[in-house]
Amino acid sequence: MNNLNTILTGDRPTGQLHLGHYVGSLKTRVAMQEDVENKLFIMVADVQALTDNAKNPEKVAKNVLQVALDYLAVGLDPKKSTLFVQSQIPELAELTMYYANLVSVNRLKRNPTVKAEIEQKQFGEGVPTGFFIYPISQAADITAFKANLVPVGEDQKPMLEQTQEIVHSFNTTYREVLVNPKAVLPPKGMGRLPGIDGNGKMSKSLGNGIYLADSADTLKKKVMSMYTDPNHIHVEDPGNVEGNMVFTYLDVFGEDKAYIEELKNHYRQGGLGDVKIKRYLIDVLEATFGPIRARREELAKDPEYVMSVLQQGSEKAREVSAQTLSEVKQAMGIQYFA
Ligand code: TRP
Repeated sequence: MNNLNTILTGDRPTGQLHLGHYVGSLKTRVAMQEDVENKLFIMVADVQALTDNAKNPEKVAKNVLQVALDYLAVGLDPKKSTLFVQSQIPELAELTMYYANLVSVNRLKRNPTVKAEIEQKQFGEGVPTGFFIYPISQAADITAFKANLVPVGEDQKPMLEQTQEIVHSFNTTYREVLVNPKAVLPPKGMGRLPGIDGNGKMSKSLGNGIYLADSADTLKKKVMSMYTDPNHIHVEDPGNVEGNMVFTYLDVFGEDKAYIEELKNHYRQGGLGDVKIKRYLIDVLEATFGPIRARREELAKDPEYVMSVLQQGSEKAREVSAQTLSEVKQAMGIQYFA
């Protein structure tokens, strides 16, 4: 055995990706792809997105391109990473069916992330079966590629635990075929970028996000509307740095830590206005996201190229998962025809 890592991760195409995705996972993926010891598979999880969008497939389909644009714009390189679309790999659905027999309904009911989503999406008694079992399908995604590392946010830990249980169950029931994966969590403090309103995590449903695709003007307006310290009314007033989104974002995105400390001290003492710190934050964000936006705009002019990247990636992903599926069927003794 060599010490190559195989990495699989993905995103549901239910909207464009935002700065929370960038610090929480996109940046880590780009860094991982530069290490030749790593093999990287990045999946647009449209099948999973459909589990709660069955009546709205156009929304999912249209966002496949959007997510792919975000991937390429941040620097994921099709020469180094395999970018693919989940629905184009039927082997994943097959694996899901075999794994489903190894997981009890009660076990699925205990998944805290699924529980929270059922609550939040207000399914009531109408939870779609496909949604309920998506942790099993996620185990298929991960194991089909024999991934040992899965970079994800905290909320995905229960999916990794479920996958580990399936791997153990499969390997002990049949034969040692599947690889036990490990979650790679975001760097400290990067896992939960709050929204510009300071109300919880940046998310599409809360409408508090800054998107990679946002124009310079939109980004500027969003920063200017950011939640700061509601008691900091006059420039001379002493202000709060904690819970102030401008400083929260400067801590995450700013490079010049010493200057940011100076700004914080000045703000605490009074005499530093919100507009000044917001202007500085705009400069800081533009330094990273300006070039990403420019690349995204260029790529958006050629959607055929972007879709061809996904198509080629999907072909490669299919080969890899077909191999695993064949091993799975052999281990189960259901590979009837040579
Ligand atoms: N559940 C992930 C999300 O909501 C998306 C996803 C699907 C995924 N399959 C995966 C992530 C496999 C990591 C590995 O963002």
